[in-house]
Amino acid sequence: MNKNVGIMCFSPTNTTRKICDAVALGMGSEDPIVLDMTLPDIRANIIADSSNAIKDIDHLIVGAPVYAGKLPLQAIDYLKNFSGTGKQCTAIVVYGNRDCGIALYNMVEMLSKNGFTVVAAGAFIGQHSYSDIVPVAVGRPDKSDIDKAVKFGARILSASKQLSLKDVPVQLDKASKSDKYPSLKPSYNEKQCVQCGKCAKACPVGILLPETGKYISQAAKKQCIGCMACVRSCKQKARVAKTNPIVKMVIYSILRQASKERKEPIIVI
Ligand SMILES: Cc1cc2nc3c(=O)[nH]c(=O)nc-3n(C[C@H](O)[C@H](O)[C@H](O)COP(=O)(O)O)c2cc1C
Repeated sequence: MNKNVGIMCFSPTNTTRKICDAVALGMGSEDPIVLDMTLPDIRANIIADSSNAIKDIDHLIVGAPVYAGKLPLQAIDYLKNFSGTGKQCTAIVVYGNRDCGIALYNMVEMLSKNGFTVVAAGAFIGQHSYSDIVPVAVGRPDKSDIDKAVKFGARILSASKQLSLKDVPVQLDKASKSDKYPSLKPSYNEKQCVQCGKCAKACPVGILLPETGKYISQAAKKQCIGCMACVRSCKQKARVAKTNPIVKMVIYSILRQASKERKEPIIVI
């Protein structure tokens, strides 16, 4: 019998979503049930009706990017709110070729605690969100990553055993040990802005005004998670990943090594 495959993911710049789609395809599902948790209103509605949202899904693929070696707070929010009652699932994180920190471990741990049977897990690589500053993993996931994700999906079909947490990779560093989420807030160039509202629609924390592209308030700027969804959505280059030379140096020092070597996906099954 074919499994009803579902995807639940947070993916501001779409790399996590691409990997989840490829894994679903490998599981034989071209048209999975998608619970896209990226936008705030949709995320809130799905969480409010969590048991109903996953009731028709036999196997849930859960995806999130890695932020500062951890899961983004938005992903933690939805992971907390879903109860698995034995349902099979696969945990996936996508990171920008630096490291995946404790994100995958925490995802498997949270899903297992909430009653999911986590049969597989994977850490894949996506273009680093800050590649406009320091190019890292540009164009990834590429064909090789997608092929690996599809093959991983095919293998998941015959997996049924709960993973042991000790098999899940952890790359502990300063960022993953801290509870902080340092982020780069994009610059806004009012002269370039045509008030199309695309940045506001793409913002996962809902802090931009559709009429102007500005922050709703000065306080809202502090809530910016630096995900670069608004930068990617803006064809006018009114929102750009631009920063002062000191911050640029810091980002460079963090990403220098990651920009030089190619990491490959790690899977556990
Ligand atoms: C605030 C922030 C922190 C990040 N921290 C890390 C990190 O610790 N390690 C890493 O390899 N990539 C890191 N990245 C890069 C993302 O994990 C990577 O670009 C991912 O592919 C983005 O997923 P998405 O396209 O689904 O949004 C970070 C990105 C952002 C925006």
